[in-house]
Amino acid sequence: MENHKIRVILLFGGRSGEHEVSLNSAQSIFKAIDRSRFDVETIGINKQGQWFWGLLPQTLLKEGFPETGEAPQVTLVVDPSNPRFIALDGRPLPNDGKFDLIFPVLHGPYGEDGTLQGLLEMANVPYAGSGVLGSSLGMDKDRMKAAFLDKKLPLARFVTLLRSDYFNHPDNWVADIEAKIGYPCFVKPANLGSSVGISKAHDRSELIQALKLAADYDRKIVVEENIVGREIEVAVLGNDQPKASLPGEILPAEEFYSYEAKYSDIGSSLKIPAPLPQFVIDQLQKMAREAFLAVDASGLSRVDFFVTEKNEIVLNEINTLPGFTEISMYPKLWEATGIPYSKLIDHLIDLGFERYQEKQKSRISRD
Ligand SMILES: Nc1ncnc2c1ncn2[C@@H]1O[C@H](COP(=O)(O)OP(=O)(O)O)[C@@H](O)[C@H]1O
Ligand SMILES: [Mg+2]
Repeated sequence: MENHKIRVILLFGGRSGEHEVSLNSAQSIFKAIDRSRFDVETIGINKQGQWFWGLLPQTLLKEGFPETGEAPQVTLVVDPSNPRFIALDGRPLPNDGKFDLIFPVLHGPYGEDGTLQGLLEMANVPYAGSGVLGSSLGMDKDRMKAAFLDKKLPLARFVTLLRSDYFNHPDNWVADIEAKIGYPCFVKPANLGSSVGISKAHDRSELIQALKLAADYDRKIVVEENIVGREIEVAVLGNDQPKASLPGEILPAEEFYSYEAKYSDIGSSLKIPAPLPQFVIDQLQKMAREAFLAVDASGLSRVDFFVTEKNEIVLNEINTLPGFTEISMYPKLWEATGIPYSKLIDHLIDLGFERYQEKQKSRISRD
């Protein structure tokens, strides 16, 4: 790696509802990555899940994916001794499709949830971000909470139910939720992001509607008590000894930080750093690191909290591949903490190699 530039493949797009968010993140990374250290190739994944070599995120944002045949459709060769990409039609690829590291810039299912990471592990390739377990725990709001509770991190009261359980005994579940959680409550599909499928239910009829909506998106549903507080986020960077950034605050333009409030131009804003007393900042940073380690994340994560009027902290969730445009919270928090955007990309790539090398130290069999 000393003599040639590090060949990085940016992987973006994907099947999830956060396809466009991914293209935006990837576009920012593509522009800012340090070309004196890295050679960058790109692979765009369309909404059907097909991978295409050489497409640029900025072009995809403007024009969408080209007709099949224009860009080579590629596949990762799962050969741990020689991982590489090949074009399905046999076309030659630059550097024979070989590379040093993959930088997945994919949010949501089939990118942030451990499935992609499993493929990359099978092929024995270094990649940026969390591994299989960290990614999947970071995606499943129910198992994530279990990992947090294991480390005694403070959470909102919650109930988890399966879609099939709900449809078998809807009245029982509504009664159970009313007894244990009450109104208003938040109803969420366990595995999604960007607030898709999430509702705030104020009464029984809204709860029933909310459960049905969440059940459209996942077989597992999480219902939580409503926490009245400010939304505060902390960025974490590192592997085994992660560091936490200054906290930032979300000022949602709607009753909660819904999909519209996140992505449409209706005036949600970020306040960085969040004005908070030092002892709260210290606690948030400690909890952010603990949350990161609790789910076995690596590389990067954004840890999201509520802070009440009395400065009580409630942990909401961890995102192992948070929005990564130059104006997204994660990079902005590091900028405010002293790491500029392009340096942050350097760190994430270095951490990806570090994690890979650490894993190589373990034996996988007795011989
Ligand atoms: N228990 C809760 N109390 C108050 N607001 C909540 C609660 N859970 C979620 N919200 C609101 O809904 C938004 C989305 O929920 P979140 O769990 O962060 O899902 P996502 O993974 O889609 O971001 C939060 O940013 C917050 O505005
Ligand atoms: Mg969130």
